[in-house]
Amino acid sequence: MKTLVVYYSRTGNTTMIAETISESLDCDIEEIVDKEKRGGIIGYLKSGYEASRNKLSIIEDPKHDLSKYDLLIVGTPVWAGKMSVPIRTYLHQNMEKIPLLACFCTAGGSGIEGTIKNIGEYTNTTPIESFGLTSSDIKSGSYKAVIEKFVQDLG
Ligand SMILES: Cc1cc2nc3c(=O)[nH]c(=O)nc-3n(C[C@H](O)[C@H](O)[C@H](O)COP(=O)(O)O)c2cc1C
Repeated sequence: MKTLVVYYSRTGNTTMIAETISESLDCDIEEIVDKEKRGGIIGYLKSGYEASRNKLSIIEDPKHDLSKYDLLIVGTPVWAGKMSVPIRTYLHQNMEKIPLLACFCTAGGSGIEGTIKNIGEYTNTTPIESFGLTSSDIKSGSYKAVIEKFVQDLG
């Protein structure tokens, strides 16, 4: 199954998980690059506001053509209990090309279930596999077992 991992990360947590999955599956990976400034406290507040209002952003053109893949694995940080704005934008722009979908998110501690539900509803699909990790899962290293299971379950 030709697989593409697509992710956005503001502070690196989601990057680390996306890279681990892509190495484990030996598959392509695409980082979504947002043209909006999201650094600092202003960027934080703006991002939370935009996510809660289901806003879209302006992202750089992706390098990989999604229509060439059988499985899309989407990774996003949880923003205000929802997917991040750059990932919403990517899904919006590629809605017609979305193949089989799996997803994951990283969070401070809450909003994982809602975010996975948010992705499913937005794309009108049921992700075949999904998981969420908190900051403490990442710090403790327990994320490794979660990813191993996710990769195994994908078959
Ligand atoms: C705008 C914004 C909103 C956030 N909202 C939540 C939230 O609702 N629940 C939560 O547990 N963490 C929340 N977080 C924390 C991030 O989800 C968490 O730190 C995540 O791992 C960051 O991923 P990244 O390093 O890939 O950007 C928020 C962070 C930002 C920047």
